[in-house]
Amino acid sequence: NETNGEAAALAMAEIAVGEAAEILASGGTVAFPTETVYGLGADARNTQAVERIFAAKGRPSDNPLIVHIAEMAQLEGLVTEVNETERRLMEAFWPGPLTLVMPAVPGAVSPRVTAGLSTVAVRMPAHDVALRLIAAAGCPVAAPSANRSGRPSPTLARHVGEDLAGAIDGIVDGGPTGVGVESTVVEAGRDGTVTVLRPGGITAEQLARVAAGGVKLDIALQSEGDAQPGSPAPRSPGMKYTHYAPRGVMRIVKGPAPEAVAAHIQAALDEATARGEITGLLAFDEHLPLYHAETIISLGSLDQLETAAHRLYAALRRLDEDGVTFIMAEACPEEGLGSAIMNRLLKAAGHNVTYV
Ligand code: TXA
Ligand code: MG
Repeated sequence: NETNGEAAALAMAEIAVGEAAEILASGGTVAFPTETVYGLGADARNTQAVERIFAAKGRPSDNPLIVHIAEMAQLEGLVTEVNETERRLMEAFWPGPLTLVMPAVPGAVSPRVTAGLSTVAVRMPAHDVALRLIAAAGCPVAAPSANRSGRPSPTLARHVGEDLAGAIDGIVDGGPTGVGVESTVVEAGRDGTVTVLRPGGITAEQLARVAAGGVKLDIALQSEGDAQPGSPAPRSPGMKYTHYAPRGVMRIVKGPAPEAVAAHIQAALDEATARGEITGLLAFDEHLPLYHAETIISLGSLDQLETAAHRLYAALRRLDEDGVTFIMAEACPEEGLGSAIMNRLLKAAGHNVTYV
């Protein structure tokens, strides 16, 4: 309900960085912008504070959190060692949308942050507000995306208000986030290999320029969608949950011929309209003239996938706001940022894909 959403967003305490840092230092929870999506932060060392994150989000407790730092000195005490590959990745991509899963110093952060794993996921965000906040708070900041679990990640302060008003202690409004999808989560081996546990803002192609031993996808990501009982569990626990799902039924159509894809999509939309559904479409600029539907959202040009990443989560929220009950979506090539975009789209659609 849009009016309530807006009222709730207004009711959120919008605060400045200094005040937000004090709240974090005293065990509270604060939402803040990063270059990827808004995060919901708490002092990573403080179990009670971290538990407030899980409560506000309704997040399953076996899903560990990323620890955010503002300077390299904060790594000491968090991880037992930084191998050569990790060091090179940090030099190349920090601050930036890359999260490294590394061996944790036992007791350095609350066991609720690591969900009992022996590793800790760390990243240094490339956002001035986030960096100033973490530095002023004087602690490592555990922060998942600042959405209710299962909702699209927030790329605007308003999205955070819609999901979490009343459940957290404040928000620092930094305007729209940049990248729009979350960080890439990787593990880097001593042998120079980099394993992608979650595709995100840093592409496999970018990683390959740094990873002497090559880049591979976590085996669980390769078989996603046709997971069988007994298939490997993802090493990034969050990847096993349904995510980002709009309320309407959603289907993705893939195929080598854009005209055939468009014809298939339009026929499905027309049938849905005839059944009384409210129809929505996510499509790329190149094909927009081929469609009609009640809500059509452009993901930008296929030549410029940064735009699709930037718009994706707000688009999924808008489909709900418009009351769309039946959603069709085009696919993009799974290269570059397209890997992260398709990963999120497939989750949103519950892996409901038609090949034409
Ligand atoms: O861009 C981002 O990464 C955003 C902003 C706020 O920084 N944060 C974010 O957090 O996306 P979250 O909680 O929504 O996703 C964290 C992911 C989950 O898939 C989680 O399972 C994984 O990182 N993760 C965290 N710690 C891990 C660990 N020790 N081993 C493997 N995966 C881990
Ligand atoms: Mg998330």
